[in-house]
Amino acid sequence: MNPSPRYSLGAIILHWLMAILIIANVVIALSVEGLPKPEAMYWMGIHKANGITVLLLAVVRIFWRVTHPAPPFPATMKPWEITLARITHTAFYFLIVAIPLTGWLFVSKASGGKPIDMYGLFNFPGFPFAPDRDVAEQVAGIHEVLGLGTLGLLALHVAGAAKHMFTDGFVRMIPGRAAATPGPN
Ligand code: HEM
Ligand code: HEM
Repeated sequence: MNPSPRYSLGAIILHWLMAILIIANVVIALSVEGLPKPEAMYWMGIHKANGITVLLLAVVRIFWRVTHPAPPFPATMKPWEITLARITHTAFYFLIVAIPLTGWLFVSKASGGKPIDMYGLFNFPGFPFAPDRDVAEQVAGIHEVLGLGTLGLLALHVAGAAKHMFTDGFVRMIPGRAAATPGPN
């Protein structure tokens, strides 16, 4: 068990880096409509590179989570709050893999496996698929639903974090601020 009542620094850095990239990606995806084509293409290029970065960081993060268990929940949390937090966090772990993976799959399917430009630094390979518009569109639909679904989950998550901070007096995802009384894990 992790003796620290806070998350490890690695978990904190990964959490905030990924939160920024994911929120930026939803904002970009929702903002490009109506932009002139070259600008929309530019921003969707950033969206794709951000998304692949999230997928790579998700692998690191899951490995980190397995090797650095989360701190125990504070004793002040009610069992239903702990259950809700666990469900929300598990759903997020699913989404940080499923959203970029579906994006990578459908873009590969639409383009016949064209590589993804990573901020002009290097190319990330596409899946070597034969192009298929219909399948690409179906997977794109799943990608969009999951991508927008993060917003609902995020609202719940931020409400929980705000309640813990203002009502219960603890913040465990910021270095240096800890829960007063650790409870069950
Ligand atoms: C889409 C963006 C986000 C994702 C995917 C995400 C995901 C997660 C996950 C998976 C955990 C659990 C960590 C673990 O136990 O391994 C967590 C914890 C946490 N997140 Fe987020 N998060 C996001 C955005 C935010 C935002 C915007 C806030 C700020 C209000 C926030 C505040 C927190 C806090 C305070 C915790 C610790 C909860 C606790 O003390 O138990 N997160 N987040
Ligand atoms: C953090 C990861 C990601 C998030 C949160 C995300 C989120 C979203 C959302 C919410 C939409 C739908 C916008 C709308 O309804 O108009 C979208 C569309 C799109 N995403 Fe992602 N995405 C991610 C990763 C990726 C990746 C890795 C790729 C490809 C490599 C990608 C390619 C696209 C494309 C091309 C569209 C436009 C789809 C269309 O026009 O039908 N995304 N994304």
